[in-house]
Amino acid sequence: MATQAREYRWVRDGATGARRMRYGADYNPEQWSRDVWAEDMRLMREAGVNVVSLAIFSWALLEPRPGEYDFAWLDEVIDLLHENGIDVDLATATASPPAWLSQRHPEILPQTEDGTVLWPGARQHWRPTSPVFREHALRLVRALAERYGDHPAIIAWHISNELGCHNIYDYSDDAARAFRGWLRQRYGTLDALNDAWGTAFWSQHYTEWDQILPPRTAPTHRNPGQRLDFERFSSDAVRDHLRAEAAVLAEVTPDIPFTTNFMVAQNVRDIDYPSWAGDVDFVSNDHYLRPGEVGRDDLSFWANLTGNIAEGRPWFLMEHAPSAINWREVNPPKRPGVLLRDALTHVGHGADAVCFFQWRQSRAGGERYHSGMVPHAGEHSRVFRDVVALGARLQELSEVTGSHRERARVAVVFDYESWWVSGRDSHPTDAIRYDDETLAWYRALLDLGVRADVVPVSASLDDYEVVIAPMLHVVPDVLRTRLEDVVRSGRHLVTTYFSGIVDEHDRVWLGGYPGALREVLGVTVEEFVPLLPEEEAVLASGARAAHWSERIARVGADVEVLDTYAAGDLAGMPAVTRRRAGDGSATYVSADLGREGVRAVIERLAGDIDALAADPLAAGGRLEVIVRSGQARRHVFLVNRTDEEVVVDAGDGVRVAPRGVEVLTLSAGASDEAAVAAAHGRMGS
Ligand code: GLA
Repeated sequence: MATQAREYRWVRDGATGARRMRYGADYNPEQWSRDVWAEDMRLMREAGVNVVSLAIFSWALLEPRPGEYDFAWLDEVIDLLHENGIDVDLATATASPPAWLSQRHPEILPQTEDGTVLWPGARQHWRPTSPVFREHALRLVRALAERYGDHPAIIAWHISNELGCHNIYDYSDDAARAFRGWLRQRYGTLDALNDAWGTAFWSQHYTEWDQILPPRTAPTHRNPGQRLDFERFSSDAVRDHLRAEAAVLAEVTPDIPFTTNFMVAQNVRDIDYPSWAGDVDFVSNDHYLRPGEVGRDDLSFWANLTGNIAEGRPWFLMEHAPSAINWREVNPPKRPGVLLRDALTHVGHGADAVCFFQWRQSRAGGERYHSGMVPHAGEHSRVFRDVVALGARLQELSEVTGSHRERARVAVVFDYESWWVSGRDSHPTDAIRYDDETLAWYRALLDLGVRADVVPVSASLDDYEVVIAPMLHVVPDVLRTRLEDVVRSGRHLVTTYFSGIVDEHDRVWLGGYPGALREVLGVTVEEFVPLLPEEEAVLASGARAAHWSERIARVGADVEVLDTYAAGDLAGMPAVTRRRAGDGSATYVSADLGREGVRAVIERLAGDIDALAADPLAAGGRLEVIVRSGQARRHVFLVNRTDEEVVVDAGDGVRVAPRGVEVLTLSAGASDEAAVAAAHGRMGS
């Protein structure tokens, strides 16, 4: 573990060099007067805050007129923080351009697919491909780097903010030009592009590069290949901006690591973050809780994926909410205990920094009802008390920093392109959702007390005994081979309906579904049979499917039928199958069985796959078990998924409070059995 390395410098206390869990928030002092700053310092110290992200939306104040900088107020704030022992993740401040820039250069403003201009008045009103915007942004980045590069409080650079959150898809002429350049690089010739996009359909054939546009609003279904490439291009275009800012920082301040906050749990789901991980010195992520019962497991799912995007290295939780957010239809506060449980779940999945949006709840502006660590009610409030308690708990966990999350034996594969493409229009149904399907499998594993890693499809699958790839819709040849290797090497593949259907251009694999995976699964599907909202498909086992079923016309001789359709046109036909090949196997679930249904499938497979056996520490799935290992210690996080106290074992075992978290500390090399023993005796050695 490269704890001394530049990339991970942020975890070390500037004064003592000791590792400590980072704790803090976005800090927007420009919204407040100086007497409030003084109070902020007192309260930050009380809460144990040791880092803030600063100047994220400060461009208009830092450069009030073109080329004229006003750094005085920022100097003062940074010095004040430093005097109070609080370090700074300093933003490059380019997220939201000042009024003068869009007034002088309206050509930086992005356009939606129907040509609507996104005007200033909110934030992120800039085209990722605008050369004018880029020039102005980089000038500011350089000025900030030159001014603050030597300040001892700066532990990291925060490039822009949530790149692409509101402006990922820009359909302007700048975007069109850049898109063509990207396509030329990808395809070389128009013939290759025409073939990839299947432009023989609907007279879409191109004879000149200049004829190609972003997929702007059109009379009906737009070309799927064009859309997929535009999505890839848009993700890359925003990444180019990241790279451009990073290059300036690397030149001027080579010793300061930089990051940008990912949105791995996206509301905007359009960025292929695994492809960005190599462009930052350390991964940081923002996560906002989904309301309702699903929220906790959803959080765990995305935190788990973030840890694997970071390739097991410690990452930085840049933002989550202390309580309510302000951008869903209904925004309830966090329930008692949830603030702490959420934060420690992220830590379990590898976060060595826990930060919030934002420090002090705004009085004005579009986020005035978004919670802050200091709420409108002030310090004498439930939220602030919880914030102080979390700060204390995190400092107790400083020893966890630098450890890596232990690999599970089971992988749930996550593929951004399958997410984008499986949700397209002009499909057999609109009712299926990639993220719901993958989450259903993850939740079923949690319910059974089986630890699993959520891994990007680009990650190595070699060390997993079981690879679960739900709705893996886009399967190019290389991926087909990787999945076949899982089975060939005696391991286990599990996949579902609508997997293996298309290649990297969203062209359907022929010869029967599931196309690319037909051979490894040993099944041939002739027809999709999507279900109407009022319909369901009942299986012989009693499982019930919604949304989707299919006609499996043939299965190979080496395929066992685990379940069949029990009624309707598909009665008696296979629904769940398993092909065995040597010690390996390939299981196929042809219907949308939901969390309960897939749980039954996993239970059945657990009969002869050890890796699917329940972890005794999980208390029958009531706890999520996450393990982080360092050189000297193993830290076992027991996260209570329920509203009731869970006792790991009857008698004097560990008691985990409702919605609470316990962390057991063992010596490194200690086995899971030792953890069980520790849980029983509540020891830590
Ligand atoms: C994002 C942004 C923040 C803030 C929060 C509110 O994560 O980065 O500036 O708008 O959302 O949830």
